[in-house]
Amino acid sequence: MSENSKLHHLRTLKAQARLGGGIERIEAQHKKGRLTARERIDLLLDPGSFRELDALAFHRCHDFGLDQQRFLGDGVVTGWGTIEGRPVYLFSQDFTVLGGSLGEIHAQKICKVMDLAMKNGAPLIGINDSGGARIQEGVDALAGYGEVFLRNTLASGVIPQISLIMGPCAGGAVYSPALTDFILMVRGSSHMFVTGPEVVKAVTHEEVTFEQLGGADIHAQLSGVAHRVAENEAEVLALTRQLLSYLPSNNMSDPPYVATSDDPSRMEAALDDLVPDDPSRAYDIKTALSWIVDEGHFFEIQESYAPNVVIGFARLGGHSVGIVANQPAVLAGVLDIHAAEKAARFVRFCDAFNIPIITFVDVPGFMPGTAQEHGGVIRAGAKLLHAYCEATVPKLTVITRKAYGGAYIVMSSKHLRSDLNLAWPTAEIAVMGPEGAMSIIFRKELEASTDPTRRKAELVQEYREKFANPYVAAARGYIDDVIEPRETRPRLIEGLQMLINKRDINPPKKHGNIPL
Ligand code: HXC
Repeated sequence: MSENSKLHHLRTLKAQARLGGGIERIEAQHKKGRLTARERIDLLLDPGSFRELDALAFHRCHDFGLDQQRFLGDGVVTGWGTIEGRPVYLFSQDFTVLGGSLGEIHAQKICKVMDLAMKNGAPLIGINDSGGARIQEGVDALAGYGEVFLRNTLASGVIPQISLIMGPCAGGAVYSPALTDFILMVRGSSHMFVTGPEVVKAVTHEEVTFEQLGGADIHAQLSGVAHRVAENEAEVLALTRQLLSYLPSNNMSDPPYVATSDDPSRMEAALDDLVPDDPSRAYDIKTALSWIVDEGHFFEIQESYAPNVVIGFARLGGHSVGIVANQPAVLAGVLDIHAAEKAARFVRFCDAFNIPIITFVDVPGFMPGTAQEHGGVIRAGAKLLHAYCEATVPKLTVITRKAYGGAYIVMSSKHLRSDLNLAWPTAEIAVMGPEGAMSIIFRKELEASTDPTRRKAELVQEYREKFANPYVAAARGYIDDVIEPRETRPRLIEGLQMLINKRDINPPKKHGNIPL
């Protein structure tokens, strides 16, 4: 073989690898409105930054006709590149090769980039499009998944892990994403389920479509598995770039600082009138957020799941922050099982990755009722408590209106090591709302009263004057200051500056036992 023919051979192999499962399957992928594994990488990374690994790897299985189906790359494209100049590692499953199914070599390739991401402290992005464990490879495929899951778990809290779901993801293909920090799906095109519609029908006799079982909207609204949903693949890839801009590369570094032209001392007079005089009337906390954060940009996470609590990333004075806010516009901002779990996981993510947490409080309490109690609201609420208590990043809290009972304590109160607790003059801090409180402590008096309605109104008014304000808490130092709502942005930015070198530690332990 001459030198030139060796080069020719190499080029032929590389060209073959680039084609994955071949032209016909690529066309079939495009017809479904989906991009190929490589096209996705090109859209995600900075142009020209992708460097591939193991393009020439393939499986060594001979069973069930697999020796006739050897595709270079083995159904997954792996490597590294940059996003906004910062290194990331990634894998992108190729559905045109054996349905993107995962076998021994496919898994080894993924594990190699996961190990590199960990050693080099850079985010891992998984672009998933897979039928799950490669059936022909038997236990080798299962072993491969086990190796991936182990690495996902060990990397948790060390490097950010983001999963994009770009097609069907079944069986083992859903558990690796589930172990990562964020899952992004495409409406109408991506699906996630442990067992598909056929198995569901065989076992439970339930007839269900892909979409009904595990479509993007189901996972965004009902299961809470999906953190963001986009209309198409290009949008999902752009969202991933945006999301990364708020995150550090690893748990030993800080999130990128993004200079802003938004004045850190900007006052927002409209905030003074945001909270209605009538305490039973709603307002949208997202309006407040958009007036407070840099340039009004709020990157919301899990928008459609438990919308009574709002979570997401923003910047204040150029610094990345995680925001947790009760949403009075949905169920009066009450905390229920889903809301508590949603907020708890987000608080833990921020704490793991050095992102200060800003909490906005307007919460009437925990949701009452058998459905909640039997569903484990005690456990869920305890998760949120645990998450806030153990968090050592800067914690800043703004009480805008109601902060009642256990919900007052749990929402980053002073008692849970919160660093700066501010309240608007509209804040109401007490064990419970006036109506309920008076019915309980004056039950006998009200029963004996000749005019219980009038008497109760008097008591409610007295209670409101005494407790429905921030000044009792401020007198004890549980609130550091009562501020004018318009001052919120500058006060939070100053607070973040004050806490910039914060160091706090938890007692040495293997790990806590958060009530899962
Ligand atoms: C091997 C597979 C495969 C798999 C798909 N293919 N899944 N090959 N192992 N798991 C192959 C198909 O044979 C087909 O090959 C090609 O990929 C495309 O698949 P289609 O069925 O034609 O595509 P589509 O109609 O789009 O359906 C996609 C799908 C479906 C929904 C993913 O293929 C499917 O249901 N697959 C099985 C899903 C599943 O049950 N996986 C669980 C595995 S068990 P040809 O050559 O015909 O194009 C598992 C356990 C791990 O993962 C547990 C860990 C906790």
